[in-house]
Amino acid sequence: MNVQVKIGDFRTEETDAIVVGIFEGGESPSGTFQAVDEAMGGAVQTLLDLGDFKGELKQTSILYTKGAIASPRLALAGLGKLEDFDLESARQAAGKIAQQLLDLGVKSLAIPLPSEASPDAIQATVESSTLAVYQFNQHKTEDLDELKELESITFLVENEASKSVAEKAATLGETIANGTTLARDLSNQPPNHLTPILLAEKAQAVAEATGLKCEIFDQEQLKEKGFRTLLGVSQGSQEEPRFIILEHVPEGEEKDTVVFVGKGVTFDSGGLSLKSGSGMMDMKHDMSGAAAVLGAMQVIGHLKPDLHVVGLIAATENLPSATAQRPGDVVKSYGGKTIEILNTDAEGRLILADALGYAANYNPKAVIDLATLTGAVITALGHFACGMLGTDEDLMEKIKAAAKKTHERVWQLPLWDDYDEGLKSKVADVKNIGDGTAGTIAGAAFLKKFAEDYPWVHLDIAGTAWDVKGSSYIPTGATGYGVRLLVQLVQDWG
Ligand code: BES
Ligand code: MN
Ligand code: ZN
Repeated sequence: MNVQVKIGDFRTEETDAIVVGIFEGGESPSGTFQAVDEAMGGAVQTLLDLGDFKGELKQTSILYTKGAIASPRLALAGLGKLEDFDLESARQAAGKIAQQLLDLGVKSLAIPLPSEASPDAIQATVESSTLAVYQFNQHKTEDLDELKELESITFLVENEASKSVAEKAATLGETIANGTTLARDLSNQPPNHLTPILLAEKAQAVAEATGLKCEIFDQEQLKEKGFRTLLGVSQGSQEEPRFIILEHVPEGEEKDTVVFVGKGVTFDSGGLSLKSGSGMMDMKHDMSGAAAVLGAMQVIGHLKPDLHVVGLIAATENLPSATAQRPGDVVKSYGGKTIEILNTDAEGRLILADALGYAANYNPKAVIDLATLTGAVITALGHFACGMLGTDEDLMEKIKAAAKKTHERVWQLPLWDDYDEGLKSKVADVKNIGDGTAGTIAGAAFLKKFAEDYPWVHLDIAGTAWDVKGSSYIPTGATGYGVRLLVQLVQDWG
């Protein structure tokens, strides 16, 4: 998507569609509504008077201008009630109209910016309209000429001052949308096209393009360094595992370190504790935590915040074979704790045990892991919020504040010590499943044992990483959940 800002007038701008946001009842904070209505000879007011368009959130209407202005279409986007308006309304409205115009085959659109449009709203508009028209067509070979693409968005402003403000906001929105698109592309990628090695190569390419530091541990190095839980999950597969380290090092003296950790299971069959056929159908997405971390690190590489940010990704397949890990095996984690593996399908927490152990080496102020860890989180929260659990209330408050801004909702679940009881093993320090109750909390209670040295929060994104319905800027498939949230958290750190 090409996004630009220019000084111009909606009456003379030649584009496929001029898009104007309208509040319920035709209320408008600026003169935009009056100007548009006037240029259209009162046609917009007529729509409102007839009740055909009320300006309700996500309501749309397209008028054909027939020469009244230079562009052939005037697209009205309902913004809802003025008093209810927030950034999420802007996203939903912009996403909806972008999707609808895409369906019509529109390639370019222009939005006249009201003088009081906030930078946040401009950024949100760029993000949501880009994300709304996202498609994953990489593996299609037929009817390619029928594929539609929205190619450009132009913001029209009145003067140089508003131009430079809008440009900054639009560029930020573009950068963040690109990071989210990267996460979606990775998560949507079929598992034979995204092995752990290919994921590591992608991370390396992102690092080179953005100036991040990147280090990859291959199988031999993982053995030397003692990443035994990661190797254990990987041992049933022909594909080698990888551990990926991305790092943004700010200029100047010592800065706080924040570590993001992503679960990167490029395909989860369950291993010997094999999933059902339908149960493994979506399991190419089981690296969505890793995708979110990589997407966020790409954005951070561009933004270069004044914070030391580290992205860690444990990447592996989970497959059954003669060499696969068995239920009953005991494995020692990177940090030294032993784990009795009673269900090989609880593999995410195993690879995270090593990754969380490794994170301690950075002496971090915060560690946040993102993982498609449990089906149980979908039972608890559906697809509207991720499960958040952790050991540090302040960090969770920070995450809640960021989530409120980006509308990537988080919902805190308890992590009382009482839940540790179910994880006791007869033969090892801990077992990798609980007592069958509170599955999401049991998963987090397991992780907590490997994250004792720093403030830590776990985000169980199994429900929010794909299959989300009802949002205008989240099409089917991978959502890219977490990229905007992590970036917001970094931006607001200080
Ligand atoms: N990747 C799955 C979690 C998952 C399941 C995500 C369904 C999205 C949809 C994870 O590795 C897993 O299999 N978890 C098990 C844990 C259980 C064996 C304790 C689960 O949720 O059933
Ligand atoms: Mn599993
Ligand atoms: Zn899994």
